[in-house]
Amino acid sequence: MTVHLPFRTEPTPNSWERSGLPAWTYRSEAVLALERSSVFLTHWQVVGHVSDLPAVGDWLSFDILGERAVVMRGQDGLVRAFHNLCRHRGARVVDGVQGSCRGSIVCPFHGWVYNLDGTLRGASRPDSFDGFDRDNFHLKPIEMEVFHGFIFLRFEPGPQPSVADLLAPFAADFAAYRSDELVSDGPSRWITELPVNWKSVRDVDNEGYHVPLAHPGLQDLYGRDYADHQLAGGINFSRGAFGDRPGRTWSVRHYIALSQDPPGLPPHLAKAWTYYGLFPATVFAFTPEGAQFYHEVPLSAGRTRLTGRLYRYAQETRRQRLARYLAQRIDRDTSAEDQQLTIWSNESMASRAFDGFHLSDLEYGLRAHHDRLRDLIPVMALTDAPPEAEIARRNAELLDRP
Ligand code: FES
Ligand SMILES: [Fe+2]
Repeated sequence: MTVHLPFRTEPTPNSWERSGLPAWTYRSEAVLALERSSVFLTHWQVVGHVSDLPAVGDWLSFDILGERAVVMRGQDGLVRAFHNLCRHRGARVVDGVQGSCRGSIVCPFHGWVYNLDGTLRGASRPDSFDGFDRDNFHLKPIEMEVFHGFIFLRFEPGPQPSVADLLAPFAADFAAYRSDELVSDGPSRWITELPVNWKSVRDVDNEGYHVPLAHPGLQDLYGRDYADHQLAGGINFSRGAFGDRPGRTWSVRHYIALSQDPPGLPPHLAKAWTYYGLFPATVFAFTPEGAQFYHEVPLSAGRTRLTGRLYRYAQETRRQRLARYLAQRIDRDTSAEDQQLTIWSNESMASRAFDGFHLSDLEYGLRAHHDRLRDLIPVMALTDAPPEAEIARRNAELLDRP
Protein backbone atom coordinates (compact mmCIF):
# COMPACT_ATOMS: atom_id res chain seq x y z
CA MET A 1 0.00 0.00 0.00
CA THR A 2 1.41 3.41 -0.91
CA VAL A 3 0.82 6.07 1.70
CA HIS A 4 1.04 9.69 0.68
CA LEU A 5 3.55 11.57 2.84
CA PRO A 6 2.58 15.14 3.67
CA PHE A 7 6.15 16.39 3.22
CA ARG A 8 8.12 17.93 0.43
CA THR A 9 11.01 15.47 0.30
CA GLU A 10 14.30 15.96 -1.52
CA PRO A 11 14.86 13.51 -4.39
CA THR A 12 18.03 11.43 -4.42
CA PRO A 13 20.19 12.47 -7.39
CA ASN A 14 20.97 9.91 -10.09
CA SER A 15 24.67 10.22 -9.75
CA TRP A 16 26.53 11.33 -6.66
CA GLU A 17 29.86 11.04 -4.89
CA ARG A 18 29.49 8.03 -2.64
CA SER A 19 32.61 7.89 -0.51
CA GLY A 20 31.48 9.86 2.55
CA LEU A 21 33.64 12.06 4.75
CA PRO A 22 37.31 11.13 4.86
CA ALA A 23 38.37 8.87 7.71
CA TRP A 24 40.65 11.49 9.28
CA THR A 25 37.63 13.69 10.12
CA TYR A 26 36.48 10.92 12.48
CA ARG A 27 39.72 10.93 14.40
CA SER A 28 40.74 14.56 14.71
CA GLU A 29 40.35 16.52 17.94
CA ALA A 30 40.81 19.70 15.89
CA VAL A 31 37.78 18.74 13.80
CA LEU A 32 35.81 18.09 16.98
CA ALA A 33 36.75 21.57 18.20
CA LEU A 34 35.30 23.00 14.98
CA GLU A 35 32.22 20.80 15.33
CA ARG A 36 31.83 22.11 18.86
CA SER A 37 31.77 25.75 17.80
CA SER A 38 30.09 25.44 14.38
CA VAL A 39 27.70 22.57 14.97
CA PHE A 40 26.87 21.54 18.53
CA LEU A 41 26.78 24.86 20.37
CA THR A 42 25.14 26.75 17.51
CA HIS A 43 22.38 24.26 16.71
CA TRP A 44 19.29 23.32 18.67
CA GLN A 45 19.64 20.49 21.18
CA VAL A 46 16.71 18.72 22.78
CA VAL A 47 17.08 18.25 26.53
CA GLY A 48 13.75 16.86 27.66
CA HIS A 49 10.03 17.39 27.80
CA VAL A 50 7.97 19.72 29.95
CA SER A 51 6.61 16.63 31.73
CA ASP A 52 10.11 15.98 33.06
CA LEU A 53 9.59 19.12 35.16
CA PRO A 54 6.07 18.78 36.55
CA ALA A 55 6.53 20.90 39.70
CA VAL A 56 8.02 24.27 40.65
CA GLY A 57 11.76 23.84 41.26
CA ASP A 58 12.10 20.68 39.13
CA TRP A 59 15.16 20.70 36.90
CA LEU A 60 17.06 18.79 34.23
CA SER A 61 20.69 19.30 33.39
CA PHE A 62 22.40 18.97 30.03
CA ASP A 63 26.16 18.98 29.43
CA ILE A 64 27.82 19.11 26.05
CA LEU A 65 31.46 19.75 25.11
CA GLY A 66 32.31 21.90 28.11
CA GLU A 67 29.01 23.77 28.31
CA ARG A 68 26.56 23.02 31.11
CA ALA A 69 22.88 23.87 31.10
CA VAL A 70 20.10 23.54 33.61
CA VAL A 71 16.44 23.79 32.65
CA MET A 72 14.19 24.70 35.58
CA ARG A 73 10.52 25.37 36.29
CA GLY A 74 10.13 28.65 38.16
CA GLN A 75 7.66 29.82 40.83
CA ASP A 76 5.57 31.27 38.00
CA GLY A 77 5.34 27.87 36.31
CA LEU A 78 7.55 28.92 33.38
CA VAL A 79 10.44 26.75 32.25
CA ARG A 80 13.75 28.56 31.75
CA ALA A 81 17.25 27.53 30.76
CA PHE A 82 20.47 28.80 32.36
CA HIS A 83 24.14 28.01 32.35
CA ASN A 84 24.73 25.64 35.25
CA LEU A 85 27.54 27.86 36.41
CA CYS A 86 27.60 29.88 39.59
CA ARG A 87 28.48 33.52 39.04
CA HIS A 88 30.81 33.46 42.03
CA ARG A 89 33.41 30.89 40.96
CA GLY A 90 31.70 28.71 38.42
CA ALA A 91 30.54 25.72 40.46
CA ARG A 92 27.60 23.75 39.24
CA VAL A 93 24.56 25.22 40.96
CA VAL A 94 22.78 21.89 40.56
CA ASP A 95 24.55 18.56 40.52
CA GLY A 96 23.28 15.49 38.70
CA VAL A 97 20.99 14.73 35.81
CA GLN A 98 17.64 15.66 37.24
CA GLY A 99 16.27 16.90 40.53
CA SER A 100 14.18 19.39 42.40
CA CYS A 101 15.02 22.57 44.31
CA ARG A 102 12.82 23.82 47.13
CA GLY A 103 12.15 27.47 46.61
CA SER A 104 15.70 28.42 45.70
CA ILE A 105 18.94 27.18 44.17
CA VAL A 106 21.77 27.07 46.69
CA CYS A 107 25.25 26.80 45.21
CA PRO A 108 27.08 23.98 46.99
CA PHE A 109 30.45 25.78 46.99
CA HIS A 110 29.92 28.93 49.10
CA GLY A 111 26.16 29.06 49.36
CA TRP A 112 25.12 31.82 47.01
CA VAL A 113 21.35 31.60 46.69
CA TYR A 114 19.49 32.03 43.41
CA ASN A 115 15.76 32.31 42.81
CA LEU A 116 14.20 29.69 40.56
CA ASP A 117 14.11 32.24 37.74
CA GLY A 118 17.91 32.50 37.89
CA THR A 119 18.13 35.87 39.60
CA LEU A 120 20.55 36.08 42.50
CA ARG A 121 18.76 36.31 45.83
CA GLY A 122 21.93 36.84 47.76
CA ALA A 123 25.56 36.01 48.35
CA SER A 124 26.81 34.57 51.61
CA ARG A 125 28.50 37.28 53.68
CA PRO A 126 27.73 40.09 51.20
CA ASP A 127 29.59 42.43 53.56
CA SER A 128 32.80 40.64 52.50
CA PHE A 129 32.51 42.10 49.00
CA ASP A 130 33.17 45.70 48.12
CA GLY A 131 29.86 47.28 47.02
CA PHE A 132 28.13 44.07 46.00
CA ASP A 133 25.35 44.50 43.40
CA ARG A 134 23.19 41.40 43.15
CA ASP A 135 21.82 42.40 39.77
CA ASN A 136 25.19 41.84 38.15
CA PHE A 137 25.30 38.17 39.11
CA HIS A 138 22.20 36.41 37.84
CA LEU A 139 22.60 32.96 36.27
CA LYS A 140 23.22 33.49 32.57
CA PRO A 141 20.21 32.56 30.47
CA ILE A 142 20.36 30.20 27.49
CA GLU A 143 18.09 30.47 24.47
CA MET A 144 15.26 27.96 24.85
CA GLU A 145 12.16 26.93 22.93
CA VAL A 146 9.41 24.39 23.58
CA PHE A 147 8.05 22.51 20.56
CA HIS A 148 4.98 20.34 21.20
CA GLY A 149 6.17 19.65 24.73
CA PHE A 150 9.84 19.06 23.93
CA ILE A 151 12.41 21.49 25.35
CA PHE A 152 15.19 22.66 23.03
CA LEU A 153 18.09 24.92 23.81
CA ARG A 154 20.90 26.54 21.90
CA PHE A 155 24.06 27.79 23.58
CA GLU A 156 24.93 30.28 20.85
CA PRO A 157 23.10 31.87 17.92
CA GLY A 158 23.44 29.83 14.75
CA PRO A 159 22.25 29.25 11.23
CA GLN A 160 19.03 27.44 12.12
CA PRO A 161 15.72 29.30 12.38
CA SER A 162 13.47 28.90 15.43
CA VAL A 163 12.57 25.33 16.31
CA ALA A 164 8.97 26.08 15.32
CA ASP A 165 10.10 27.08 11.82
CA LEU A 166 12.70 24.37 11.51
CA LEU A 167 10.34 21.57 12.51
CA ALA A 168 7.24 23.08 10.91
CA PRO A 169 6.99 20.15 8.45
CA PHE A 170 6.62 17.85 11.47
CA ALA A 171 4.25 19.98 13.51
CA ALA A 172 1.08 18.27 12.29
CA ASP A 173 2.54 14.84 13.07
CA PHE A 174 3.65 15.85 16.57
CA ALA A 175 0.17 17.30 17.15
CA ALA A 176 -1.45 14.09 15.85
CA TYR A 177 0.65 12.10 18.30
CA ARG A 178 -0.40 14.58 21.02
CA SER A 179 3.24 14.89 21.90
CA ASP A 180 2.66 17.76 24.32
CA GLU A 181 0.54 15.41 26.46
CA LEU A 182 3.25 12.77 26.78
CA VAL A 183 4.59 12.13 30.24
CA SER A 184 8.00 11.02 31.33
CA ASP A 185 8.19 7.27 31.74
CA GLY A 186 9.66 7.44 35.23
CA PRO A 187 13.42 7.71 35.68
CA SER A 188 13.80 6.75 32.07
CA ARG A 189 16.90 8.49 30.84
CA TRP A 190 19.12 5.92 29.21
CA ILE A 191 22.76 6.49 28.70
CA THR A 192 25.68 4.61 27.28
CA GLU A 193 29.15 5.49 26.06
CA LEU A 194 30.87 4.10 23.00
CA PRO A 195 34.54 4.27 21.93
CA VAL A 196 33.64 5.93 18.63
CA ASN A 197 33.37 9.30 16.95
CA TRP A 198 29.85 10.71 17.11
CA LYS A 199 29.58 10.71 13.30
CA SER A 200 29.93 6.93 13.23
CA VAL A 201 26.80 6.68 15.38
CA ARG A 202 24.95 9.03 13.06
CA ASP A 203 26.19 7.21 9.95
CA VAL A 204 24.61 3.98 11.17
CA ASP A 205 21.41 5.67 12.25
CA ASN A 206 21.03 7.75 9.09
CA GLU A 207 20.18 4.88 6.78
CA GLY A 208 17.80 1.93 6.65
CA TYR A 209 19.81 -0.11 4.13
CA HIS A 210 21.13 -2.17 7.05
CA VAL A 211 17.74 -3.02 8.54
CA PRO A 212 17.11 -6.33 6.70
CA LEU A 213 20.35 -7.92 7.88
CA ALA A 214 21.29 -6.10 11.04
CA HIS A 215 17.89 -5.72 12.71
CA PRO A 216 15.93 -8.98 12.53
CA GLY A 217 13.29 -7.59 14.90
CA LEU A 218 12.69 -4.39 12.94
CA GLN A 219 12.78 -6.28 9.65
CA ASP A 220 10.14 -8.64 11.01
CA LEU A 221 8.07 -5.68 12.23
CA TYR A 222 8.20 -3.17 9.38
CA GLY A 223 11.13 -4.04 7.13
CA ARG A 224 9.05 -4.45 3.96
CA ASP A 225 7.78 -0.90 4.19
CA TYR A 226 10.64 1.08 5.77
CA ALA A 227 12.04 4.10 3.93
CA ASP A 228 14.11 7.21 4.73
CA HIS A 229 13.24 10.64 3.37
CA GLN A 230 15.35 13.80 3.33
CA LEU A 231 13.68 17.18 3.76
CA ALA A 232 15.14 20.64 3.29
CA GLY A 233 16.86 22.30 6.23
CA GLY A 234 18.67 19.33 7.74
CA ILE A 235 15.65 17.40 8.88
CA ASN A 236 14.63 13.93 7.83
CA PHE A 237 11.85 11.48 8.30
CA SER A 238 11.75 7.68 8.28
CA ARG A 239 8.80 5.46 8.59
CA GLY A 240 8.00 1.78 8.63
CA ALA A 241 4.44 0.46 8.73
CA PHE A 242 3.63 -2.85 10.36
CA GLY A 243 0.70 -5.23 10.50
CA ASP A 244 0.81 -6.64 6.98
CA ARG A 245 1.71 -9.98 8.53
CA PRO A 246 1.64 -11.38 12.05
CA GLY A 247 5.36 -11.40 12.87
CA ARG A 248 7.69 -14.33 13.43
CA THR A 249 9.55 -13.41 16.61
CA TRP A 250 7.86 -13.53 19.98
CA SER A 251 8.01 -9.83 20.81
CA VAL A 252 7.08 -8.64 17.32
CA ARG A 253 4.14 -11.03 17.05
CA HIS A 254 2.73 -9.99 20.41
CA TYR A 255 3.46 -6.32 19.76
CA ILE A 256 1.58 -6.36 16.45
CA ALA A 257 -1.37 -8.11 18.07
CA LEU A 258 -1.56 -5.61 20.95
CA SER A 259 -0.66 -2.27 19.37
CA GLN A 260 -3.54 0.13 18.83
CA ASP A 261 -3.30 3.52 17.20
CA PRO A 262 -4.42 6.47 19.30
CA PRO A 263 -7.54 8.04 17.79
CA GLY A 264 -7.05 10.53 14.98
CA LEU A 265 -3.70 9.41 13.61
CA PRO A 266 -3.45 10.28 9.90
CA PRO A 267 -2.88 7.39 7.44
CA HIS A 268 0.85 7.94 7.10
CA LEU A 269 1.31 7.48 10.86
CA ALA A 270 -1.23 4.71 11.46
CA LYS A 271 0.24 1.32 12.39
CA ALA A 272 3.75 2.65 11.92
CA TRP A 273 6.91 3.61 13.72
CA THR A 274 8.15 7.00 12.66
CA TYR A 275 11.50 8.69 13.20
CA TYR A 276 12.09 12.43 12.89
CA GLY A 277 15.72 13.44 12.54
CA LEU A 278 17.19 16.86 13.24
CA PHE A 279 20.73 17.94 12.35
CA PRO A 280 23.21 17.43 13.88
CA ALA A 281 22.42 14.45 16.09
CA THR A 282 18.85 14.19 17.38
CA VAL A 283 16.08 11.73 16.58
CA PHE A 284 12.51 11.55 17.86
CA ALA A 285 10.96 8.11 17.51
CA PHE A 286 7.21 7.69 17.85
CA THR A 287 5.19 4.51 18.06
CA PRO A 288 1.44 4.36 18.68
CA GLU A 289 2.28 3.83 22.39
CA GLY A 290 4.59 6.75 23.07
CA ALA A 291 7.82 8.38 22.05
CA GLN A 292 11.48 8.73 22.79
CA PHE A 293 14.25 11.00 21.72
CA TYR A 294 17.90 10.08 21.49
CA HIS A 295 21.00 12.00 20.60
CA GLU A 296 24.76 11.79 20.58
CA VAL A 297 26.92 13.91 22.83
CA PRO A 298 30.59 13.83 21.79
CA LEU A 299 33.03 13.49 24.68
CA SER A 300 36.18 13.43 22.51
CA ALA A 301 36.99 12.60 18.90
CA GLY A 302 36.95 8.92 19.85
CA ARG A 303 34.31 8.76 22.54
CA THR A 304 30.57 9.47 22.42
CA ARG A 305 27.76 9.43 24.94
CA LEU A 306 24.41 8.16 23.65
CA THR A 307 21.50 9.36 25.67
CA GLY A 308 17.76 9.70 25.40
CA ARG A 309 14.45 9.78 27.24
CA LEU A 310 11.27 7.75 27.00
CA TYR A 311 7.71 9.06 27.17
CA ARG A 312 4.24 7.53 27.32
CA TYR A 313 0.67 8.70 27.40
CA ALA A 314 -0.64 9.73 30.81
CA GLN A 315 -3.76 7.60 30.54
CA GLU A 316 -2.76 4.27 29.13
CA THR A 317 -4.66 1.02 29.13
CA ARG A 318 -3.10 -2.21 30.27
CA ARG A 319 -2.98 -3.24 26.63
CA GLN A 320 -1.12 -0.06 25.64
CA ARG A 321 1.31 -0.56 28.49
CA LEU A 322 2.09 -4.09 27.35
CA ALA A 323 2.48 -2.97 23.75
CA ARG A 324 4.82 -0.19 24.89
CA TYR A 325 6.88 -2.66 26.87
CA LEU A 326 7.21 -4.88 23.80
CA ALA A 327 8.08 -1.91 21.57
CA GLN A 328 10.83 -0.95 24.00
CA ARG A 329 12.14 -4.51 23.98
CA ILE A 330 12.37 -4.51 20.17
CA ASP A 331 14.00 -1.12 20.27
CA ARG A 332 16.51 -2.16 22.93
CA ASP A 333 17.69 -5.05 20.75
CA THR A 334 17.93 -2.67 17.81
CA SER A 335 20.11 -0.24 19.77
CA ALA A 336 22.50 -3.00 20.80
CA GLU A 337 22.76 -4.15 17.17
CA ASP A 338 23.47 -0.59 16.01
CA GLN A 339 26.12 -0.05 18.66
CA GLN A 340 28.14 -3.00 17.39
CA LEU A 341 27.91 -1.75 13.80
CA THR A 342 28.98 1.70 14.94
CA ILE A 343 32.07 0.31 16.63
CA TRP A 344 33.08 -1.71 13.57
CA SER A 345 32.53 1.21 11.25
CA ASN A 346 34.58 3.54 13.40
CA GLU A 347 37.36 0.99 13.92
CA SER A 348 37.76 0.51 10.19
CA MET A 349 38.79 4.13 9.79
CA ALA A 350 42.03 3.46 11.60
CA SER A 351 42.95 0.76 9.09
CA ARG A 352 45.20 1.44 6.12
CA ALA A 353 42.89 -0.77 4.08
CA PHE A 354 39.94 1.59 4.51
CA ASP A 355 39.26 3.46 1.25
CA GLY A 356 36.15 5.35 2.33
CA PHE A 357 32.54 4.29 1.98
CA HIS A 358 30.80 3.25 -1.20
CA LEU A 359 27.26 4.32 -0.39
CA SER A 360 24.02 3.02 -1.89
CA ASP A 361 21.14 5.28 -2.91
CA LEU A 362 19.47 3.86 0.21
CA GLU A 363 22.22 5.51 2.28
CA TYR A 364 21.76 9.00 0.88
CA GLY A 365 20.93 10.17 4.40
CA LEU A 366 24.63 9.89 5.27
CA ARG A 367 25.54 12.03 2.29
CA ALA A 368 22.98 14.66 3.26
CA HIS A 369 24.41 14.77 6.79
CA HIS A 370 27.99 14.94 5.54
CA ASP A 371 27.04 17.73 3.12
CA ARG A 372 25.78 19.87 5.98
CA LEU A 373 28.97 19.27 7.93
CA ARG A 374 31.13 20.15 4.90
CA ASP A 375 29.12 23.34 4.39
CA LEU A 376 29.70 24.40 7.99
CA ILE A 377 33.28 23.10 8.26
CA PRO A 378 34.74 23.06 4.73
CA VAL A 379 38.09 21.62 5.81
CA MET A 380 36.24 18.30 6.26
CA ALA A 381 35.99 18.04 2.46
CA LEU A 382 39.77 17.66 2.08
CA THR A 383 40.72 14.10 1.21
CA ASP A 384 44.06 14.26 2.98
CA ALA A 385 44.32 15.30 6.59
CA PRO A 386 46.08 18.63 7.13
CA PRO A 387 48.44 18.68 10.12
CA GLU A 388 46.28 18.73 13.25
CA ALA A 389 47.62 22.12 14.34
CA GLU A 390 46.68 23.69 10.98
CA ILE A 391 43.13 22.44 10.68
CA ALA A 392 41.45 25.47 12.25
CA ARG A 393 43.41 27.91 10.10
CA ARG A 394 42.81 25.94 6.89
CA ASN A 395 39.12 25.85 7.71
CA ALA A 396 39.02 29.61 8.30
CA GLU A 397 40.71 30.17 4.93
CA LEU A 398 38.20 27.95 3.14
CA LEU A 399 35.31 29.76 4.83
CA ASP A 400 36.71 33.09 3.67
CA ARG A 401 36.85 32.00 0.05
CA PRO A 402 34.05 33.45 -2.04
S1 FES B 1 31.01 29.09 43.41
FE1 FES B 1 28.96 29.25 43.92
S2 FES B 1 28.95 30.22 45.84
FE2 FES B 1 31.03 30.10 45.31
FE1 LIG C 1 20.10 0.55 12.86
